[in-house]
Formats: sequence, structure tokens, C-alpha cells
Amino acid sequence: MGFERLAAEVWNSALGATRRSVQILGWGKALPERVLTNDDLSRMVDTSDGWIRERTGILERRIAGEGETTASLAIEAARRALERAGFDPVDLDLIIVATMTPEHLFPATACLVQDALGALRAAAFDLSAGCTGFIYGLALATQGIQAGAYDHALVIGAETLSRIVDWQDRRTCVLFGDGAGAALLGTSSASGGVLTTLLGADGSGAELLILPAGGSRHPATPETTANGMHYLQMDGRKVFRFATRIIPQATREALDRVGLPLEHLELLIPHQANQRIIEASAQRLGLPLDRIFTNLERYGNTSTASIPIALCEALEAGRVQAGDHLVLVGFGAGLTWGAAVIEWGQPWPAPPVARRTRLLLWLRYRWAPVRSLIRRLQRALGALLQRMSPL
Ligand code: COA
Repeated sequence: MGFERLAAEVWNSALGATRRSVQILGWGKALPERVLTNDDLSRMVDTSDGWIRERTGILERRIAGEGETTASLAIEAARRALERAGFDPVDLDLIIVATMTPEHLFPATACLVQDALGALRAAAFDLSAGCTGFIYGLALATQGIQAGAYDHALVIGAETLSRIVDWQDRRTCVLFGDGAGAALLGTSSASGGVLTTLLGADGSGAELLILPAGGSRHPATPETTANGMHYLQMDGRKVFRFATRIIPQATREALDRVGLPLEHLELLIPHQANQRIIEASAQRLGLPLDRIFTNLERYGNTSTASIPIALCEALEAGRVQAGDHLVLVGFGAGLTWGAAVIEWGQPWPAPPVARRTRLLLWLRYRWAPVRSLIRRLQRALGALLQRMSPL
């Protein structure tokens, strides 16, 4: 047994020595302009600003406008993340969109993002892991880069939850909002980066947070629509209990994996679901609230987008410095949970992006729809030629 442990330690440290360090090179967020306040909600359902503030900490949330969708928000956040890093999307190897509200059941929203960015070489797929989706995506992308399968990956959390919320159900409609956040991952010569990721799931809690219809179990019918089965349904109290247990547990486990004591954690960025969940978790962890980042008062719960949006805002607010240790921790439908420990390796404040790079990216994005149109025309022409000469 002793020998096995020693062998594992030697193997792990050899692996660590050869493992590539993965950094967050760029970050961006996108939020709809339309603001829905608690007072607005109190005119729609039987609720009040006082109840929502006291039970959730939320003051307002953003709601997607008519032309805005999960893909459009994801594209905007992605462009900002790429611009922050001065990175050409043509060099992307992978795009992951974590979402509970994809543009369609298929094709993947990530493919629409890939097309709009002109990321010609990138593989693209959606990831469904409830509100933990961004952490799942971060873990997969990090491991793919560490293994040498990819050099650069874009991980996006994007949602239009307002489209699946029952605006007559006060137990759920007050909680959620729309938005997107993105992170560009890649290797760099800086030390630190993503030190570890931890993921978990417990499907026995699947019914606690669910969109019952629209899948193979309950395909859309007039009955499913009449019964409100295309709206998000949730057992709030049970999810609350799960969240306050899993946030401290996942945070501690992730820190233990890298041998980092809690005192050396500069900032915890939890999934922004409810201020009471965050405070109860902080108390269980023994972490002062001033080392926890929150912005849920302005956006509500944006599901997979909440952690990347919070990361962007923590950076913008100067709450993260080079060398700081951060934990991102999430939980959500599934049930799922996940955490990542990051040693911030990028200089901050980040150097400004050159005007030439910005111009190149602008041209790239203007060209992307033209290229897409040419590809469609080529396909149509190919089909026509095939029909004319069947053999
Ligand atoms: N306005 C006014 N009253 C409301 C209300 C609202 N928006 N929503 C619920 N209530 C009422 C309930 O009907 C209930 O009334 P009753 O006692 O007469 O039946 C009362 O408030 C208490 O409801 P309860 O569900 O016990 O409240 P709570 O303190 O647990 O808070 C949540 C409800 C949803 C805010 C809380 O449980 C929560 O945040 N859960 C986690 C949800 C979550 O994070 N989901 C996303 C996971 S990714």
C-alpha cells in the first residue's frame, strides 16, 4: 500500500512537470439592455420588492429583447473575450457552449457561434450540465489543452432563461435572468493558470430542477403546452439545501487537491443564485463575505452565464491581481456541481489591445457571414450539379 502511494505521488509529480499550464487569456460578457426590476415583477405576479430582496438578494435582472437569443448573446460575449486577448478566431480549436436554453435542440448553439466568429478550424458542441455547465466546459477544455489535443478553446455560458420561465409562477420567475459570459483558454508562459477542476453529479435529484417537456420523454403536444410542461420547474427548498451543502464541500475538496489552505484563497466566485445560499455557504466554509464576489443583485440567476459574467466583473472591479488564487464553484440542474482553482497568471490591469488587432477582428467578423453565405451557395450548387449528373 505504502509503495503504491509513493508510486502514485511520483507519477503525479512527473505528470505535473510535463503538464501544460492553461490560462484564461481573454474574457467577455454580454447582457441584454432591458432591465426588469422587482417592482416591475410585482405588477406581473403576486410578489413584492421586499420579498425578493430579502429571500434572494436580487434587485433586478436583464431580459433578452426581441432580436436577442442565446446564440446572439454567446457571440457577443465570445467576440469580447477574443478581443480582450487580441486573438484571431481562425486559430480556435474548440468552442463549447454551456447552456440550458440552446437556440434549438439541435444543431448545437456552439456551431452557430463558430459560424458567426469565422472560427473555421474549431470543433463545436453544446454542453448540458445545468448551471454548472461553465465549470464543466472549463474542465473539459483545460484537460484537452493539457493533453495537447487543443491549443486554444473558447468556453461560453449563455442563456435566455426568460424564454422558459413561467411569468405567472412567482416561485421561479423572480429568480432568473438572461446573459452570457465567455473565456478564452490557452497556454502561456505565465505561471499558474487552472490548477485543478472537480466535477460531480447526482441524477437522483434530476426532478428537482427540470424542463419536463420538449425532449423524447414528452415531445411537444397541445397537452404539454396546456399543462405548462415547457416551463422550468423547481423545488426551491430542496435545491437550496443541496446548494448550501455542495458549495462548501466542492470548494474544500478543490482546495485540498492543490494543497491550498482557505486563508490563501483571495476570491471565491460562486454561482450567483441566491444571496442567502452564498452567505450560508460562506458561514459553513468560514470564509469572510469580503472574499466572495457577488453581482446577483443586478442580474439574478443567469445559470451557466453567471460565473463567467461574475469573473469578468471581478476583473473589471480590480478584485483579481496577478498571482491571486480564485475558486469558481457552481451547482445546478442534474443535479451537478463543479469547482475550479485558478492561480491568476495574466497581468492585470491587462495591456490595451492594439488598434490594428481590433481592426483585423472587425474585418474577420464582417467577413464571417459572407463566407457562410458562400458555403451555402456552394452546397446548393453542388446539389444542383449532382442532380444534373446523377452518376
Ligand atoms: N413572492 C412572494 N412570496 C413568495 C414568492 C414570491 N416571489 N415565492 C414564494 N413565495 C411564498 C411561498 O408561496 C411561500 O408561501 P406559503 O408559506 O404561504 O406557502 C413562502 O413565500 C415561502 O416559500 P419558500 O419556498 O419556503 O421560500 P424560501 O425562503 O425557500 O425561498 C427560494 C424560495 C426559491 C428563493 C429559495 O428556496 C431558493 O433560492 N432556492 C434555490 C433556488 C435556486 O437556486 N435555483 C437555481 C439552482 S441553479
